[in-house]
Amino acid sequence: MNKEYSRLLNPSLEHIGAYTVEGGQEADVKLNQNESPFDLPQRMKEAILDEFKREAWNRYPDILPFRGIKAYAEFAGVSPDSVMMSNGSNEMLYTIFLACLCKGRKILIPQPSFSLYEKIARLLQAEIVAVPMREDLSFDVAEIIRMARDEQVGFIVLSTPNNPTSKSVTIDEIRRIAEEVEAIVLVDEAYVEFSRQESAIGIVMDYPNLIVLRTMSKALALAGLRIGFTIANPGLMAQIVKPKIPFTSSRLAEITLKHVLGNYELVEESVDYILRERGRMMETLRTFNSLTLFESDANFIIIRVFNAKKVFSNLAGEGILVRNVSGYPMMENCLRFNVGLREENDLLLDTLRAYS
Ligand SMILES: Cc1ncc(COP(=O)(O)O)c(C=O)c1O
Repeated sequence: MNKEYSRLLNPSLEHIGAYTVEGGQEADVKLNQNESPFDLPQRMKEAILDEFKREAWNRYPDILPFRGIKAYAEFAGVSPDSVMMSNGSNEMLYTIFLACLCKGRKILIPQPSFSLYEKIARLLQAEIVAVPMREDLSFDVAEIIRMARDEQVGFIVLSTPNNPTSKSVTIDEIRRIAEEVEAIVLVDEAYVEFSRQESAIGIVMDYPNLIVLRTMSKALALAGLRIGFTIANPGLMAQIVKPKIPFTSSRLAEITLKHVLGNYELVEESVDYILRERGRMMETLRTFNSLTLFESDANFIIIRVFNAKKVFSNLAGEGILVRNVSGYPMMENCLRFNVGLREENDLLLDTLRAYS
């Protein structure tokens, strides 16, 4: 862009880039975005569309999507005034960060973690306090608490299970952090349905400084519909929603959510399948001498190979798209792939056996 005009833009733009997905979003075997391999059954899609047809498309939806909020509150066993729905959890991340950060405010982000956290924090000119994971990529909770106190951090974001490491903190560790640090603690549970750990939704009402973020894009298989939720005590929620963009959840998203929550056994079945496949893949990968395998608590697996770039492109050459996460701190030569259908997983394992 012309230099003269770029000086008129937000100076933070110099420190961030546009979001990209290396290798794109099309492949025969697509395992690079931690999606569910199962689409909604056709009959459910038809029931959703029938209901959607009866809506007034010329009318705005509610400013805040009360129908969706009510349905999710019932599902989560909390009151509707402690719930907010968003157009994917990414949208809610922007909203929460806007509510918690401004120039010079400190945010603690464990490293490595979901790249969007750092990007939004930079955009808002917040000061990032990065706390490295341990060597095995697990969270260093004692260090998180120490750094948050020493640096007087006002906002902490924890992705648990963490993207891209697939490690989690325990519910007791979340309690400790929320109790021992004077900060708002955001717990992003995008992958919690696949975790051995309990969800923090169960404790969110015990803490005035705790926020839980959930997405329907992973276990609930609705990445294409864009649905996320936030749960926090009503007092904090009333503040967090102030910067929220109005009307971001469509009528279609609210209807879809209701149908999917009403047939939750389908979600449970697909989670069971994915966990069984994860176990089977881990068992096979453990027999490969050519790579290092990290224990997984999510629907994706991390491996370290000798040359990630080469393995990534060899896999791509066979039509298999994984994520090269080598650019993250501590993740040199690491690849990330989500659990797919059994045949897809077999193809990946066979190709990795040949190339890694
Ligand atoms: C940790 C984490 N949080 C949030 C998201 C965003 O999910 P969505 O905007 O689809 O709800 C992702 C997506 O990959 C993620 O990995």
